[in-house]
This record gives sequence, C-alpha cells and structure tokens, in this order.
Amino acid sequence: MRAPFILAPMAELSHRALRELIETFGGCGEYYTEMISAGALVSGGPFESWYLDAGPCPDRVVYQLTGANTEHLAAAAALLDRYECAGIDINMGCSAPAIARTGAGIRWMDDAEKAAAMLAAVRKRTKKRLSVKLRLGPENIPPASRSAASGMDEARFDYLLRFCRRLEDAGAERIALHPRTGGEKFKRRARWEYVGRLRDALSIPVAGNGDIAGAEDLLRRAAGPCDGVMTGRGAVRRPWIFAQAEVLEQGRTWETPDPEETALRFLDLLARYQPPEFRLSRARRFFGYYCDNFIWGSYLKTLLGREEDLIGMGRALSAHIREHPGERQVRRT
Ligand SMILES: Cc1cc2nc3c(=O)[nH]c(=O)nc-3n(C[C@H](O)[C@H](O)[C@H](O)COP(=O)(O)O)c2cc1C
Repeated sequence: MRAPFILAPMAELSHRALRELIETFGGCGEYYTEMISAGALVSGGPFESWYLDAGPCPDRVVYQLTGANTEHLAAAAALLDRYECAGIDINMGCSAPAIARTGAGIRWMDDAEKAAAMLAAVRKRTKKRLSVKLRLGPENIPPASRSAASGMDEARFDYLLRFCRRLEDAGAERIALHPRTGGEKFKRRARWEYVGRLRDALSIPVAGNGDIAGAEDLLRRAAGPCDGVMTGRGAVRRPWIFAQAEVLEQGRTWETPDPEETALRFLDLLARYQPPEFRLSRARRFFGYYCDNFIWGSYLKTLLGREEDLIGMGRALSAHIREHPGERQVRRT
C-alpha cells in the first residue's frame, strides 16, 4: 500500500475554497489548514470562524496551530477538541521572519526540552491526534560531520532524531518533515533521505514534504519510505494533482482539466467560503502559483494582480485565454 496524499498547511492558501476545489477532482487523504494563531483563536479574533471552517470534509482536516506561548497553544487545543477534525498539528517549521521573531515556528526547534514541555501541556488538553510539522532544524547546530556513505550531515540527523524522540515522549503521534533547515527557506532541494531515516528510527508515522512537482513525483515519493506525502505548492499549481496521480496509478490516461474553468470555479469558491476582507489577497496568492500552468504565466500574473476584485480577475483571465487560445493547453512540469 502506498502512503496517503496530504495537502500541506499554507498560509492564505490551505482554506476551505482550495479544499472544495481539490474535492471536485476527487480529493486527497488529509488536508492541513493554514496555520491558525493560537493567541488569536483563544482571544476570539474576528476571523476565527473562517479559520475554523473545516468543510467540506472535517473528518479529513488537521487544524494547524502556531504560537510561541504554551498556555495559548494548550488553550487553543482544548478549544479545538470540541470540533470535528482528523487532528491538531503544531507548527515547528515555519521560518517566516514574522513568525520566527516571536519565538514560534522553527524557533521551537532551538530547544528540545522546551518544545517537549509545550507539547506535553498541549497533550493534556486534547484527545485529538496530535502531530508536529517541522524542518531539519535551525540553521545553527553543532558542526557538521558529513557521512561519505549517505551524503547526510550526521550531526544534523542526530539533532533531529533527538528532538523528535522528545516530541514522541511528550505525546506526538506523528511527524511531517519538510527536510530543509530553517535558514534554507526554499533553497537547495528537499532532502528526502532524512524522511526515510527518521521514519526508521521513530515509532510514530513520519510523512515527507517538499518539492513535489507533479503527479509522477507524488507517486514516486508515496512508494516510500514514508507514511504520507504532503504537497503544498504543487497542489496549488495543479489542484488536480492527487486525482491525476490516482489515474496514473491505475494505468489509465489522464485528461488535464480545462485551466480556465478550474480557475473560474476557484474564484466562485473563494467568494462563497472566504470573508470579503480576505478574498483578493487569497486569489492573488493562488494565482501566484496557478499561473505557472500558462505559457504567458508571468504576464498573466501581472494582469490579474492589477484587478481589484474577483469578478475582474475572472474576466481578465478569460480575455487572456480568448486572445491566446494556446493557453488552454496546460504546460507540462
Ligand atoms: C505560501 C506558503 C505558505 C505556507 N504556510 C505554512 C503554514 O501556515 N504552516 C506550515 O507549517 N508551513 C507552511 N508553509 C510550508 C509548506 O507547508 C511546505 O512545507 C513547503 O511549501 C514545502 O512543500 P512544497 O514544496 O510541497 O510546497 C507554507 C508554504 C508556502 C509556499
């Protein structure tokens, strides 16, 4: 059995509208939400009901929490305990300055004892499946001792393994690893060899994440060694990626959906499932990746970026495809 497919948590992208769109093609095994600020959630921020909308398939949604404050994270987990979902995830991988500066995200990976104490406090407040998404670790760990045989940085792997064992002891039930360091952001390649090795060393499931470009890649990674394949940007560019992988797996021929129709459907879903204040930024964020499907993608991105509402965006996209009918043919990865 191959590993299940998972949508990665992505701020401004992993929301109900994207899940609805992916579901129209057949869906995937699990959907992580975009990170939800634990502090805002417990203090009742104005947009929390939108963040908590786990539709259309709450039983396959994992809420991801972010925060630097243990009490906030534990209280947020207690609140989420009342919602139907597949689990709660703690973000220990985000290296965006706005998050890391506060001590959240990747900064938890600076100190295994502190991270484990936080997780144990969260564990006490929820019965949901508890997971952690992380990276290979912070930029600075003890000097590297690269192994000639594996090509891996042994000191880094030891650091990661010790960190994850502490999380396991504290109650983590699964890990999703994006195998880059915090400082690497999206530079270098995602080093999947760490995923397999971590999975062999831990007793809880380990999913891998990073650089899945297309359906073939998804299937190759799902063949293992890993317990889940999580993809983020690849599923925004191609919301049909999971369906395509299943069709290829069954040896059938894949017909790529019409890219205009898919984009227009997404705009409708955004209008239905996102608050007015969020719609434009979410649409721009989506088209930042989705436009890679088009030969004139950068030009189209600029055109769409000039629009001030979803209706204008839909019209500009349709006009562009009418003018350049070749754009209906989705670019290969
Ligand atoms: C726009 C964007 C927003 C992201 N937001 C989050 C987030 O909220 N929580 C998180 O753990 N990771 C976040 N990530 C990281 C992704 O979950 C994932 O680890 C990363 O994109 C690598 O996977 P990919 O190559 O499949 O995109 C974000 C990535 C992107 C591109």
